[in-house]
Amino acid sequence: MQNYLTPNFSFAPMIPERALGSRVWDIEGREYIDLSGGIAVNALGHCHPDLVAALAEQSQKLWHISNIYTTKPAQELAKKLVEHTFADKVFFCNSGAEANEAALKLARKYGRDHFGEHKTEIISCLNSFHGRTLFTVSVGGQPKYSKDYAPLPPGITHVPFNDIAALEAAISENTCAVIIEPIQGESGILPATQEYLQAARRLCDEHGALLILDEVQTGMGHTGKLFAYEHYGITPDILSSAKALGGGFPVGAILTTDKIAPTFGPGTHGSTFGGNPMACAVGSRAFDIINTPETLAHVEKQGQKLQTTLRELGEKTSVFKEVRGMGLLIGCVLADQYKGRASEITAAALKHGLMVLVAGADVVRFAPSLLLNDEDMAEGLKRLEAALTEWIA
Ligand SMILES: Cc1ncc(COP(=O)(O)O)c(C=O)c1O
Repeated sequence: MQNYLTPNFSFAPMIPERALGSRVWDIEGREYIDLSGGIAVNALGHCHPDLVAALAEQSQKLWHISNIYTTKPAQELAKKLVEHTFADKVFFCNSGAEANEAALKLARKYGRDHFGEHKTEIISCLNSFHGRTLFTVSVGGQPKYSKDYAPLPPGITHVPFNDIAALEAAISENTCAVIIEPIQGESGILPATQEYLQAARRLCDEHGALLILDEVQTGMGHTGKLFAYEHYGITPDILSSAKALGGGFPVGAILTTDKIAPTFGPGTHGSTFGGNPMACAVGSRAFDIINTPETLAHVEKQGQKLQTTLRELGEKTSVFKEVRGMGLLIGCVLADQYKGRASEITAAALKHGLMVLVAGADVVRFAPSLLLNDEDMAEGLKRLEAALTEWIA
């Protein structure tokens, strides 16, 4: 097929056409097991009937109306997010990068408004990923994504992840925010330690800085809780969400408190599509299904099963030296002799009818539907074993 798109993506050799649950079919009718979830987006699998119904219903009522008005779907989704988290207020946008952009702007303005012109510095972690806008690639801790776009916004410091002493040394009265992924996703499914997030919370409080948790990838049930911060005994000041928030329909959000929200007074920030009624109607239905004890317990149970079997497979084939993650957000770290070759494994898996992801060059990532059933998991793992066996031969 002729490619009319800019070459910034290296597309897979197959072209997906339709999908249901954890199965995808390409334009030639070949079937795949999807354990990638559209990169942690399709939290309820593909074309979940309740989401299809919510979208169909809303599409007959109102598609777009602009932010001069609020709508029932936007208020309903915001209410659910507020009632089930630390937050009091929500700002809607369309993606993870936009959510982080909003979070960082809010933190800078809050610092300036409440403490003065000096309080603008942002601390972020090495190897972190926060999106692809100029501000978010600059805050992200991977220079390969920002170096071609200099000059970059100033006032950003990077510290090693999970290193309390480094954070303690970097934070000061000039720091307006510390931004952390509870699990570093794109760079290898690396969870923050309990001590690290608790220290970050304490240091932010001591220095009047805001703690921003980027839960774009970890949120909406992927770790077995609605948001990953719930595992850590702390709450952030601002949380960014996107990906699974819309169950496959584009929507992003930041959640924050009544103390901070007034900083975003009328006209200070905006988005044409943010709070779109279609996105919020689908997100609202997805929220109802994800945020139940049954779904979250299922994530926990299936996550443990998947991790255990991947560990066994790693030992049997000697391809993985470690399996890590939480719930159904899992990374398999390649053994030293296969370092740097994760993308070869995702290509081999695809040839065997299985969709998985990389997370950096050394980790194979799994972010399947939170509703993944035993049959699809077993079939996916069977295909993975066949792919790995062929790949190492
Ligand atoms: C932790 C994290 N933050 C932000 C983003 C950016 O989200 P988006 O691609 O929707 O802009 C991602 C995407 O992978 C992510 O994993």
